[in-house]
Amino acid sequence: MATNPFLLAVSTMIVLVAGSSQSLARLQPGKGELVEGTTQPVARFYAPYWQPSDAVASFALKKPLNKSTELPSDYPIKPMFEKVDGKHRVRIEVAPGTSLYGTGEVSGPLLRNGRTTTLWNTDAYGYDPTNASLYQSHPWIFGVRPDGTAFGILADTTWRTVIDLNGAITITAEGNAFPLYIVDRATPQEVCTALMELTGPMPLPPRWAIGYHQCRYSYYPEARVREIANEFRTRRIPCDVIWFDIDYMDGYRVFTFDKNSFPDVPKLNADLGKMGFSNIWMIDPGVKYEKGYFVSDQMVEKGYDVKNAKGETFVGAVWPGNCIFPDYTSEKVRGWWAGLYKDFMATGIDGVWNDMNEPAVFAVASKTMPEDNQHRGGTYSSGPGIQPQIVTPGPHARFHNVYGMLMAQGTYEGIMTTNPTKRPFVLTRAGYLGSHRYAATWTGDNSASWFDLETSIPMAINLGLSGQPFAGPDIGGFNGNGPGNFESRGKHFARWMGVGALLPFSRGHTGKGNIDKEPWAFGPEVEKACRLALERRYRLLPYFYTLFREASVKGLPVVRPVFFADPKDMALRSEDDCFLIGSDVLVVPQLMPDGTRTPVLPRGVWRKVEIVNENNHPDLPELRIREGAIVPLGPIVQYHDEKPLDPLTLLVSLDTRGQATGTLYEDAGDGFEYQKGQYLLTTWQAKQEGDKVTVSISKAEGQMARPSRKVVVQVLRDDGKIAEASGEAGQPIVVQVR
Ligand code: NOJ
Repeated sequence: MATNPFLLAVSTMIVLVAGSSQSLARLQPGKGELVEGTTQPVARFYAPYWQPSDAVASFALKKPLNKSTELPSDYPIKPMFEKVDGKHRVRIEVAPGTSLYGTGEVSGPLLRNGRTTTLWNTDAYGYDPTNASLYQSHPWIFGVRPDGTAFGILADTTWRTVIDLNGAITITAEGNAFPLYIVDRATPQEVCTALMELTGPMPLPPRWAIGYHQCRYSYYPEARVREIANEFRTRRIPCDVIWFDIDYMDGYRVFTFDKNSFPDVPKLNADLGKMGFSNIWMIDPGVKYEKGYFVSDQMVEKGYDVKNAKGETFVGAVWPGNCIFPDYTSEKVRGWWAGLYKDFMATGIDGVWNDMNEPAVFAVASKTMPEDNQHRGGTYSSGPGIQPQIVTPGPHARFHNVYGMLMAQGTYEGIMTTNPTKRPFVLTRAGYLGSHRYAATWTGDNSASWFDLETSIPMAINLGLSGQPFAGPDIGGFNGNGPGNFESRGKHFARWMGVGALLPFSRGHTGKGNIDKEPWAFGPEVEKACRLALERRYRLLPYFYTLFREASVKGLPVVRPVFFADPKDMALRSEDDCFLIGSDVLVVPQLMPDGTRTPVLPRGVWRKVEIVNENNHPDLPELRIREGAIVPLGPIVQYHDEKPLDPLTLLVSLDTRGQATGTLYEDAGDGFEYQKGQYLLTTWQAKQEGDKVTVSISKAEGQMARPSRKVVVQVLRDDGKIAEASGEAGQPIVVQVR
């Protein structure tokens, strides 16, 4: 999927300059200042007409930021403000050749120049092309100039917002006037870190959540779940998690179980656990409105439901029929919601899936609740130790885009309180800039089409560039059975598994009534491709885990656009079939059903590698390693902790000086002991002298004891062969390369 960034930027600028003088006349410069508490300057601008009464709680920022100093007069980015038809508009000119990204969860190409996105969380089944909104709202634009320097723009508003990237950046929001935050940095990577400083880090997930997940709408009854689990283990296809979609519930009542289909949930969860599977169960926000149902009764009694414009209980239809909706804008309601997880989690549940939380409402054209519904507000703190902000009451229009995030926060906090020694895992469909603080995400109800397979890559990348590193699509596609006949559907599925196994959140899922979509459903050929794809993920798990930890401390995405390898190379700016895992592994997929497309690869030597005897499998992406990198690999395992990381393989790709370096992060994989130093962060370096390459530890951090294990060093040679030697952990290892 390629668009020429230069042509788009230049052509749209011409149109704008010719046609926009009238609106430009009204535009006025904002009032700028620098804020406190960031390692490098962050500017904040207000519209000239901004009043203190416009101030509302920020849900994007980790915490409110005070002014530090005046803005230097030569600050390079000059936003211009105007009020048009009661809406607030800010316009930022961009130099020709500037590439624009981010804006959260968006379908289509990676490069967003020329695109318009409406931030309004929407139940977007099949990505309805007549509606420009998907499930999440990230009022954040990521820009990269031709010289590789980069900037980010955060519009701190929760109201419906239109981001128009035709030529200039134009942000138009309803509601109150909003502050605009701007970071201007030397590299795109530094912009990612600045965004993390503003919005807070993603907590390190439990390691099991980085494995492969198997889902469908729905696996039930229990016997079917057990069958699926057995198939994975018998066929030796790696998998860590089995998912439970809404049909496990008693009449779609959240926090209940259908006793006929699931008579003994604790036993089922325990049995799955013995087989190495974690489990994730769905909870929606729509609570069946029914006397005698404890969740509904409690909500009504406490008055915790969202009210309509007249102040009465709002009732809307979702799966169970008439539902009422918790008003998560109040910390009391979030606290009550969190408390509901105690008994639920006590059945041995490992993780929770929050769905339909835009919130989705059936049988109304808006697909959600009325914008004049009323929320009570209260206080908001992004997490423990953060001073709460006052949340004033307001209409749904103001809180719509954060409804899902606040639900996920309540869920996260409930799981954490219930199991304080485990890392919570929550998956949310709706989200807002900042929801990475509580939940991973997936890209909702995509379709089993070639287009949605292709676009699943830029979607995950743009979410990563918008502060959400833990994202991925429904592998295979949710909507529909797939293109063509059984054979072509199989090919499509295998290719999607090839790609999806390399994205941060890796889960197969499909809709109700669709054909089976497990890795073995399309016969032995496709099964083989899927097994190889997933074996790759599990061999790469130590590397992925290291990257998740990097995401949690530096805000760097797990998967990155190829231009991150060389931000000055304009040719890479619109490449979005290929992507980088971290900075060292380049993924080159073939996404066309027939024939090939020649991707644009970063310059330098990227050595092709096979790690599971792929034998050039046509449905699997090529993997290439950056020159100068050492990539840690584990053995093939069926789930993340089936075996210890032994042997540890270090895949070495030397640069032109005969050197390479690489890092591995290890800890217990769950719990919080790592925060007290129980981890190991090891950096290796490789140096070639003559025909020998020596690999040794150059730096080690953390108090975890170094596991005694075999370490295998594999040096990738230029003739495509591998030179190998092994030794004990901690000892230098010498490889004869010629
Ligand atoms: C909508 C979700 O997007 C989908 O993944 C899920 O299977 C259905 N709801 C049923 O819960």
